[in-house]
Amino acid sequence: MNVSGKTAIVFGGTSGIGLAAAKQLAAQGAKTIAVSRDPDKAGEVPAGITLKKCDVLDREALMQLFREHAPFDILVSAATGGGRSIGPFLEMDMDGFQASYAKLWGYANVVRYGTEHMSEDGTIVLVSGAPARKAKSGQVSLSTVGGAVEALVRAVAPEIAPRRLNVVSPGIIDTPMVAAQGEERKAHYAKMTADNVIPRPGTADEVAQAILFMIENDFVTGTTIDVDGGWLVS
Ligand SMILES: NC(=O)c1ccc[n+]([C@@H]2O[C@H](COP(=O)([O-])OP(=O)(O)OC[C@H]3O[C@@H](n4cnc5c(N)ncnc54)[C@H](OP(=O)(O)O)[C@@H]3O)[C@@H](O)[C@H]2O)c1
Repeated sequence: MNVSGKTAIVFGGTSGIGLAAAKQLAAQGAKTIAVSRDPDKAGEVPAGITLKKCDVLDREALMQLFREHAPFDILVSAATGGGRSIGPFLEMDMDGFQASYAKLWGYANVVRYGTEHMSEDGTIVLVSGAPARKAKSGQVSLSTVGGAVEALVRAVAPEIAPRRLNVVSPGIIDTPMVAAQGEERKAHYAKMTADNVIPRPGTADEVAQAILFMIENDFVTGTTIDVDGGWLVS
């Protein structure tokens, strides 16, 4: 797909990976709508990006947004959905664990209600995470939610053809998801990536490049690209 002149909706498009994808899409001439619960957090955005407020867990609001912008060609969701429960499984707060699945339900809502409003050659990209296939200690919720997202993509892709559905799986990426600043932030990323083949955090732009590849290449569907600094082989 040549994205120039196409309409794209990017959920979670106001921060981190989603914002980087929205900027790359707009730079290539796509009319881009970047969506989140609090879109003001995006700050100044380049021409070609419109900010919209919507919670991916609010199905009515989501359906309304899709009706308003139909027909569109590109859907991306990088919306985390809510909180994440991290820590040893036997100490896990089970309500927190269940709440981590908000990411899956947000993605499922986007695909379920967005697909019918897309052009015939429409394309969808979701974002999972490296723990889906290699969990480190304390990452049970990240792993199981990410695994469910990747299974959702493989199961749904054949059903929505000729529209395409893919997923990008990032490793540790430097985004506003981590609140720490300064030395504390540096130390966090150094510790999290020390054992990786490429021992540094990735950038949101590096992940967005893979999202753009999934959008532009008409021969990929139902699959995953890893942008993880070698996490899976470390
Ligand atoms: N950064 C990493 O190291 C990393 C690693 C592996 C996987 N990932 C995955 O990559 C994706 C993007 O992460 P990121 O690092 O870019 O995070 P981020 O900078 O925190 O951005 C998350 C975005 O999602 C939006 N969002 C969250 N819940 C939402 C909801 N219910 N409805 C609509 N929008 C919602 C947020 O905006 P509002 O708060 O305004 O709604 C924000 O725009 C996530 O799925 C994350 O799990 C990230």
